[in-house]
Order: sequence, then C-alpha cells, then structure tokens
Amino acid sequence: IAKEVSSEQENNEPPGPKPLPVLGNILQLDLKRPYLTLWEMSKKYGSVFTVYFGPKKVVVLAGYQTVKQALVNNAEEFGNRDISPIFSEFSKGHGILFSNGENWREMRRFSLATLRDFGMGKRRSEEKIIEEARYLREVLDDLHGKPFDTSQPLNYATSNVISAIVYGSRFQYSDPQFKEMVNRTNENIKISGSPSAQIYNMFPWLGCWLKDLKLLMTNRVYNLKQIEDLVASLEETLNLEETRGLVDTFLIRKKNAEKAGDKETLFNEQNLLMTVSNLFAAGTDTTSTTLRWCLLLMAKYPQIQDGVQEEIDRVIGHRQAVMEDRKNLPYTDAVIHETQRLANIVPMSLPHTTTCDVEFQGFFIKKGTCVFPLLASVLKDETQWESPLTFNPAHFLDEQGQFIKRDAFMPFSAGRRVCLGESLARMELFLFFTSLLQHFRFTPPPGVSEDQLDLTPAVGFTLNPSPHKLCAVSRASHT
Ligand code: HEM
Repeated sequence: IAKEVSSEQENNEPPGPKPLPVLGNILQLDLKRPYLTLWEMSKKYGSVFTVYFGPKKVVVLAGYQTVKQALVNNAEEFGNRDISPIFSEFSKGHGILFSNGENWREMRRFSLATLRDFGMGKRRSEEKIIEEARYLREVLDDLHGKPFDTSQPLNYATSNVISAIVYGSRFQYSDPQFKEMVNRTNENIKISGSPSAQIYNMFPWLGCWLKDLKLLMTNRVYNLKQIEDLVASLEETLNLEETRGLVDTFLIRKKNAEKAGDKETLFNEQNLLMTVSNLFAAGTDTTSTTLRWCLLLMAKYPQIQDGVQEEIDRVIGHRQAVMEDRKNLPYTDAVIHETQRLANIVPMSLPHTTTCDVEFQGFFIKKGTCVFPLLASVLKDETQWESPLTFNPAHFLDEQGQFIKRDAFMPFSAGRRVCLGESLARMELFLFFTSLLQHFRFTPPPGVSEDQLDLTPAVGFTLNPSPHKLCAVSRASHT
C-alpha cells in the first residue's frame, strides 16, 4: 500500500534496464510501438519498473493487479497528469486533458455535469446518436456495397455527436469547415504518437527541426481559430433561458463571474477553448477507431458477425435499437467489449505523475515522477483472460450466454483520471454498432479473403487498424 515515505527509503527505486547518459533507454525502445517493448520489459523487470525515455525517468505499471492497486486503491497518489512538452506549450495549464490542480478539478467537474445534462446518461444524447446513425447509414447506402475506407464516415459521425453536445448542432458531412476540423484533429492525434513527437518530448530543443511538429502546431492554431469563431457566433445568439450545449452553459458561467467581478474565475476564454478542443480530441478518434475495429473484426470473423446479426434480428427486428435493448443483447454487448479489449486503442493510457513521494509495492517513487499505466498489459493479462491474444467474445459471457463484467476490462483506464466520456462512448459504440449491423453485412473487398484482413495496428497515439477497405452490403432482403 502506498504511503508517505522517509528519506532512508529513497534508494529503493523500481528496477529497470541500465540507462545511457542523455539517451536513457531509447536504443532499447521501439519508438513506433513503445507499449510492446515496455510489455516485454515487464516480463523481465516485474510489474513496477523504471525506464528512461531519453533523460526522462518513467515508472511503468504493468498487469491488472498493479495498475488497479495504483490507479484505484491509490488514486490520489497516482492521480496527476504528466504534461509533456508537446502538450504543455499548447494547453498552458488549461482545459481537462493536460491540466492539474484546481483548474483540472473545476473543468472536469463542469464538463461531467454538463455532459450529463446535454449528453451522457440522458435521453437527449441517445436521440442525438440515433439521429447521427441514420445519417451514417445513408452514407453507407450510397456506396452500394463498393469497397470503402471506414475512417472518414465513422470519424464524421462521432465528431458530430460531440458537436451536437458541445455546440448544440451537428454539421453536414459535406461542410468543408467540418471536414477540415475532423481531419486536422485526426492528423494531430497521429503525429502525437509518432516517433518524432516522442523524440521532441525527450529533447524539446530539437523541436523546430521536426517537420511533423510544425504541422501539429499549424493544425492546432487553425483548430483553435475555428473553435473561437464558432464560440463567437454562439455568443451573439446566446439565450439565457435556453442553453443549446456545453458552450452556452460555459458562456453563462463566464458572464456571471464577470458580472460578480470575479477576476480569478476559471470560467475564462482559454479554459473554454481548451476544454472544447479536449473533448473533440479525446472523444472522436477514440470512439471511431473502436468502431472501425468492430467492423474489421466482423468482416474477419463472419461466424461472429452471424451471431450478432441473428441476435439483433431476433430481439430488435426492424425497429430502431435503443439503450434499453442492451441488456437483451448479451452477445452483441460481449462482441463490443471484446473488440475494445483486443483493440487496446490507448495502450499506455495517458501519462500520469505522482502527487507526492510514495512507497508502492516496496519501492520508492518520488513526487512528480512520470508514470505509465500500461493498459495493454491489463487488457491482455494472462492471469485474467482465458485467451488473451485471440478475439473471443466468450470472455464476456457466462455459460448461459448472459453478459458478464470483467474486472480487468480497463480500456477507459481507472481512478481519478478515468476517461470522462466513458458513458457517452459506450452509448455510441452500442447504438452505432447495432444500427450498422442491423442494416449491413460487412465483408472484405472482392478478391480479398478474411485471412488477408490484417489486424496489425498502425502507428499512432491511439491504435488504429492499418489502412484497409471493407464492403457494407445492404441486408435489405433480411430486414
Ligand atoms: C481520458 C479512453 C472516449 C473524453 C481518457 C483516458 C483513456 C480514455 C484511456 C486516459 C485516462 C487516464 O489518464 O488514466 C477512451 C476510449 C474512448 C474514449 C477508449 C472510446 C472508446 C471519450 C469520449 C470523450 C472522452 C467520447 C468525450 C466526451 C476524455 C477526457 C479525458 C479522457 C476529457 C481526460 C480525463 C482527465 O484527464 O481527467 N480516455 N476515451 N473520451 N477521455 Fe476518453
């Protein structure tokens, strides 16, 4: 159990590979897929170990028991965010994702409460997702079963759910402003996980030489300008009696604070822009990537797709699925959970830091040390899963075929910094997936066999499937 430690214990730091001066352990790390090297290292050094990303010391936590013990049982001690150079220059302590202390607490509390009102856990969000699923189906219908890249339609659909909650309205898929915003956000998520971004984080003085990073900065400037313009037009038409979305609620809080002469208020312009930007960055690519994995896995394993469609046809038939149906669709629910487990899209979570000196599993970890909770090693922990490396929906089913929760299911992380959008994401995954599977059969393109569909993830901060195309063949004859 973690507790405050005295100076005598400070020598007992978690073990790890010997670092070189300046370079640390980077020669041993696969910077394209660092989570794989770290997972390998945990087999040698144990579930708590130290590794140096260049000069930066990182303590890695591996396996279900250790990650849970740190993030859940010692939530306060392990609950700060590590803000790497690539994010600190941009966020400057504002927003939710890359902030700490009072700013983080206030913005997280505000966003959770407002998402609850406009989005999560209420019928309004369910309706928004169902409406968006209809637009998404239209796009796939228009393809008439021709092979297509699943990224764009799914990115647009999930971005629109956040838009509807944040701004109060969705965008047309053909709107050039919307397309640019989504594409820039996704490009930035890819760059943030690239080897150049990691090298920049280790040696920030290299920054201006890295081409990718220039693009990242330019994209951010454009995205912030776009959010600023959208906020300005909402401000012009603000109606105190009827809030349209999260931005309106924030603007009212900001105005009230200004009226009261509160100069210290955290409800300021920077926090508004950064919170909106964070919700798009954290909430769109993650959800659409997971849906892309769902569809890819359905095309690869047609018998599992048969099982899902048989259940949807039997329980829902032709009508629109709603959240209430989830409890009656245990197999479909298990397939979604198993996809999240296997796809493991945020393999190292987001980096944390310790809020104080802690003693953890007999080791000393200094206040302010960067900590990586290796979610990949939890979602594929051999002590928790019967067949950790295969796609096996039975992980989430009991012998009667009823859905069962599993403790080591942690794709949203856990504890104090647990994903703020978890309930919204789960709602989106269920409603989009059932709606798509109800109407379409997903298959590999003609001439490509199921075996040839590659499950190796692409390089990026979130693990996307490698580029591929699928066909969405209408099931009109069935439904
Ligand atoms: C944080 C996963 C969808 C908003 C996180 C973290 C993970 C995660 C692993 C890091 C937690 C930690 O630091 O330990 C996912 C996955 C999603 C998803 C797998 C979809 C399948 C969403 C959605 C939203 C969202 C839809 C927005 C409504 C956030 C925010 C944070 C976060 C704001 C930062 C929380 C904080 O620092 O306090 N998410 N997320 N996420 N997520 Fe999600």
